[in-house]
Amino acid sequence: MGQFAFALAIQEATGCTLPLMEPLKWGFSMQGKPFLPLVAGFMLLFMGCGYTPSPDKVPYNGLTKTPPMGWSSWNRFGTGIDDQTVRTIADAMVSTGMRDAGYIYVNIDDSWQGARDAQGNLMPNDKFPDMKALADYIHSKGLKFGIYSSPGKKTCEGYLGSYGHETQDANTFASWGVDYLKYDWCYAGFEYNLFGGLQSAYLKMASALRATGRPMVYSLCEYGRGGVQAWGAGVGGNLWRTTTDINDSWDSMMTNIESQVSTAPYAGPGHWNDPDMLEIGNGGMTEDEYRTHMSLWALSAAPLLAGNDVRDMSASTMGILLNSDVIAIDQDPLGYQASPVRNGVLETWFKPLADSGIAVGIVNRNSYPLRVTVNLHNLAGMNVRDVWKQSEVLLKNDAYSATIPFHGTLLLKMSPN
Ligand code: GLA
Repeated sequence: MGQFAFALAIQEATGCTLPLMEPLKWGFSMQGKPFLPLVAGFMLLFMGCGYTPSPDKVPYNGLTKTPPMGWSSWNRFGTGIDDQTVRTIADAMVSTGMRDAGYIYVNIDDSWQGARDAQGNLMPNDKFPDMKALADYIHSKGLKFGIYSSPGKKTCEGYLGSYGHETQDANTFASWGVDYLKYDWCYAGFEYNLFGGLQSAYLKMASALRATGRPMVYSLCEYGRGGVQAWGAGVGGNLWRTTTDINDSWDSMMTNIESQVSTAPYAGPGHWNDPDMLEIGNGGMTEDEYRTHMSLWALSAAPLLAGNDVRDMSASTMGILLNSDVIAIDQDPLGYQASPVRNGVLETWFKPLADSGIAVGIVNRNSYPLRVTVNLHNLAGMNVRDVWKQSEVLLKNDAYSATIPFHGTLLLKMSPN
């Protein structure tokens, strides 16, 4: 690690040359205009390096050695989701190649719940006539089935939560064939306090899930409260949200990914920071912004849960979600969560890879395109690939020049020959 020195010369597309940046070494030293939140993030990161997360209170379930990939109903459909829509989504996950690219979980978010029967068993509402049959259908497609509940009495949309029925609900989920549970805090604050209550609420369901004997990915959703990154794995979480809800805009997407920088030391195989589900293909951002969204999620080893209507994807959306190079960066077995350094309008994210290679993303936060020259020294024996061009880079005098569009990202992957 740490052998590469980068020097970036920034030149505006108009030909006007901006001052050279100082050479970057893994982005850890940099001069120019500091970006205070990120600088603060780095300080936390360094302080966090010696931190030992709380010891496991439930045994690790052995799942999500790489960040989970799949689809979730929430971002595109909200509460307007039903059995037939989920089935046709599952069909499309296969026909579009999403499943074969690694997107295997099909997750129903909030709004599937009905009443409890006389024995207290949670039943689905009329939109989901037979959850077991739906799970069987999803499994028959070579996909896995995810569901959603809350540690409180009610979910965020006011449907029934699992409070007081944790064991019963975990058993119900297992009997249906659930493979993934998102457990969303919502109104649980009425039942638990925020000091210790968060952990005990999540631990209770983790123990119930483990006791079923069925392996289920456990996704904690409490918006990053209480420093969840330090104890999420200890209470059985495979991933935990670090931020408030994403929406389909550049500002929301960038805020989510940048505000979780201090959580980087806590990511790794089996336990991931989750800056929320993808908005790619939902229409609120430009193609270049969606490429940045995908690049930054991959560099951050974030879960990749598509949040669009996969039955109706443009060629551009498919090109972004199905780009095998960017997926490989996300799924790299080292599980390293990149951190950025900011210099003026450029933000550079570095991610070491398991094969001793490195992925580097340079984001243009400017409102116009920028010409960038990346000088790559000490790269003998490395292949350099431009991920979004999907082609090998030919270096001229150890340098590669490219134009990064407004809000776009130059994503390079360097791998040993
Ligand atoms: C919260 C979560 C979202 C989604 C909704 C559903 O806002 O953060 O991801 O699950 O609840 O109501």
